[in-house]
Amino acid sequence: MQGRQIKQCGLFSLTLLATFLHCSCLPHSTGGKPFPETAEEIASYTKVAKSIIDLAVYGNAQNRSYERLADFTDTIGNRVSGSKNLDLAIKYMFSALRKDGLENVHLEPVKIPHWVRGEESAMMLQPRNHTMAILGLGSSVATPQGAVWATLIRSITPFSINSPHTGWQDYQEGVQKIPTACITVEDAMMMARMAKRGQRIVVRLTMNAQTFPDADSFNTVAEIIGSEHPEQVCCLSPPLQVVLLSGHLDSWDVGQGAMDDGGGALISWEALSLLKDLGLRPRRTLRTVLWSAEEQGGVGAQQYFQLHKVNISNFNLVMESDLGTFSPLGLQFTGSAQARAVMAEVMKLLKPINTTTLEEHGEGIDIEMWMDAGVPGASLHVADSRYFWFHHTNGDTMSVQSPIEMNLCSALWAVVAYVVADLEEMLPR
Ligand SMILES: *[C@@H]1O[C@H](CO)[C@@H](O)[C@H](O)[C@H]1NC(C)=O
Ligand SMILES: *[C@@H]1O[C@H](CO)[C@@H](O)[C@H](O)[C@H]1NC(C)=O
Ligand SMILES: *[C@@H]1O[C@H](CO)[C@@H](O)[C@H](O)[C@H]1NC(C)=O
Ligand SMILES: *[C@@H]1O[C@H](CO)[C@@H](O)[C@H](O)[C@H]1NC(C)=O
Repeated sequence: MQGRQIKQCGLFSLTLLATFLHCSCLPHSTGGKPFPETAEEIASYTKVAKSIIDLAVYGNAQNRSYERLADFTDTIGNRVSGSKNLDLAIKYMFSALRKDGLENVHLEPVKIPHWVRGEESAMMLQPRNHTMAILGLGSSVATPQGAVWATLIRSITPFSINSPHTGWQDYQEGVQKIPTACITVEDAMMMARMAKRGQRIVVRLTMNAQTFPDADSFNTVAEIIGSEHPEQVCCLSPPLQVVLLSGHLDSWDVGQGAMDDGGGALISWEALSLLKDLGLRPRRTLRTVLWSAEEQGGVGAQQYFQLHKVNISNFNLVMESDLGTFSPLGLQFTGSAQARAVMAEVMKLLKPINTTTLEEHGEGIDIEMWMDAGVPGASLHVADSRYFWFHHTNGDTMSVQSPIEMNLCSALWAVVAYVVADLEEMLPR
């Protein structure tokens, strides 16, 4: 999740067209059914929802998403946009999704930023010598020789053990580009005390960051093809209909990127695995997309949207998990009042794991353009009070993850995706 870091830097002032319009395809009905019937239809999924929950939480799939995430992040490590590690991560996932027996596993090309941190350090020289822990911000320029203007930003976190938190930043048009780094809460507080005493502060900052031309990358895709709405083969067959589940595969270049967003990516894979294991094929296609370069501003997802928006009417629901896979509470949802009423019924199916809440505002940089264009969108709502402790730090490792929490997140994700993809009608817009 990269949104908040951008706001942080801002503070410091660094500154529908369906293709079947072309032919007379069979119309698909939406929103025609009276609500009590829809509620009854959804209640009829109680048993199947229970079987998904049982498999994920208590059955053979217990801890699978956690074990897969551990193997992935221990093998690859972190994977920042443009890096060799991100390439390796995409290759790893592509073959893992295939090996798992998912359908239509493929890569969709995108161009992504390529910024390399290089060596960096900060040494306070006055009022006393003190080595500062820093992390340059993505897209920052390097330090030149001699005295320099630079920005040091207090890391955004409610809890710190001297950990700097990196993130992406942008320079405003027309301003002189100066180096930017995050410092720890502890150092920021100390410098504030020093300044208040009128002490002169001198810091020697060294940053060797470099920006290269955009790199080639991919969004990674896997599906369970819908029984009634697969890819359209001719204009008289019913149009493709899709429920999209997602997380992002890239991370920052620190820690393991296990929380941000390894967990979100892995439960989006696990949801399809659970349904495949149970032999459940919904009417509509379930499509998992693992985005590239989310941390640089949802870059991979933006290109996906530009390419696929021509078929926007085929997208039933877009989902993203990018606020950690901690203990789940329910969903955050953006959609019409009618769609929300349907989703509220779907959430009741999660009563066995107490994750029935349906909050406002689906979140996620990778899905927000779909929501802005009127597609219903949902994000995983978890007990995220620890999220910003680890966000974009060396502390974002597998040790943050819990297998039990990931089982619950996977169950929720799979139940929602399956039921929404299988209902007789698409969610009303
Ligand atoms: C899953 O993880 C939990 C918590 O670590 C553990 O108690 C349980 O035995 C694990 N189950 C399996 C099947 O490994
Ligand atoms: C502080 O660091 C500077 C530069 O490395 C060094 O020249 C100086 O001796 C140090 N001062 C103390 C008090 O250690
Ligand atoms: C849009 O839908 C049409 C008709 O099904 C299909 O041929 C085309 O490939 C789709 N475009 C994209 C970008 O998926
Ligand atoms: C759900 O909540 C009930 C009542 O608070 C509790 O008894 C039950 O153990 C909870 N189940 C889970 C899976 O958390």
